[in-house]
Amino acid sequence: MTEKPDRYAVIGHPVQHSRSPMIHALFAKQTRQKLAYEAIDASPEGLETAVRGFGAAGGKGLNITVPHKHKAMQLCDALGSEAEQAGAVNTITFVTTTRLRGDNTDGIGFMRDLVVNHNQNVRGARILILGAGGAARGILPPLIEAEPADLVLANRTVGRAEAVVAKLGAKIEVCVFEDLGQKRPFDIVVNATSAGLDGRRPPFPAACLTPDSFCYDLAYSLKETPFVRWALERGARRAVQGWGMLVEQAAESFQIWRGVRPDTTAILAQLDRAAPRVNAS
Ligand code: ATR
Repeated sequence: MTEKPDRYAVIGHPVQHSRSPMIHALFAKQTRQKLAYEAIDASPEGLETAVRGFGAAGGKGLNITVPHKHKAMQLCDALGSEAEQAGAVNTITFVTTTRLRGDNTDGIGFMRDLVVNHNQNVRGARILILGAGGAARGILPPLIEAEPADLVLANRTVGRAEAVVAKLGAKIEVCVFEDLGQKRPFDIVVNATSAGLDGRRPPFPAACLTPDSFCYDLAYSLKETPFVRWALERGARRAVQGWGMLVEQAAESFQIWRGVRPDTTAILAQLDRAAPRVNAS
C-alpha cells in the first residue's frame, strides 16, 4: 500500500485567492517531499474547530492568514519567540495531534526579501513604517534587531502606534502621517496599512520620499498596488510589492515542518515567468 502524503493547509477567511497551496506545491516538487497542501476557509467563530479538527485528522501543519493570526496564537501550547513578540502566529506545527506549536515567519520572510532579494542595507538606514496593525507588528522585531539608524512608525491612529512601541520597548519615533512632511526623507519606506485599497489616495505626504528611497508594500496584487503607484508617481525609482515576502515566509514555514529550506530564488524566478510580479526594481 502506498503511504499517504503528510497533510498541510492554509486557514483564512476568505482564502480562495491564497497562493500558499501553489507555493508549497512548488516547494514540495523542488525538494522532493511528499505532501498535500490545501486551503481551508474558516470564519473567526469556526477557527478553533477547523484547527483542532485538522490535527485530529492527522494534519501535520497549518499556515494561518488574515484575519486569524492573533486568535490562532491563543490555541497554541508553545510559541516561538517571533510569534510571542509579534503577538501573532502564521505557522502551526502539530507536535502531536493535540499539541500545537505556533511560530511567526512573516518578519524573517520580510527581512530576507528586503535584504537578500532586494539588496537593501538596513543597518544604519533611516526607515519609515506606515501602519501599526498586525502586519507592522510582525516586521518590527527583526527590523529593530538589524539596527537601523532611525525607525519611525507613522499611523492614522497615533495611540495604536504608541501601544505597539510600548510593547516592543525599543527606541522608535511615533507620529501621524501629517507629521511626516516635517521629517527628513527616508531610505526605506514600508507600507503596512490597507490605505488605498478602498480606491482612495493613500494619505502619506510625498516629502518622506526621495528618488533613492526604496519603497516596499507588504501587500501584493497581480496589478500595481495603490502604494506602489503612489510611490512611483511621487518620484521613487524603486517600489516593490510583497510577493517575495510571501514566498520567503512560506519557505520558513516549510523548513520548520520539513527540515529543509527550498531554494526561493528558483521559485521566485519561476513565479515571475508564470505571472510577472508588478514592480519597478
Ligand atoms: P493588518 O493585520 O493587515 O495590519 P490591521 O491590524 O487591521 O490589519 O491594520 C491595518 C492598518 O492599516 C492600521 O495601521 C490602520 O490604521 P489605524 O490603526 O488607524 O486603523 C491602517 N489603515 C487602514 N485603512 C486606512 C486608511 N484608509 N488610511 C490610513 N490608514 C489605514
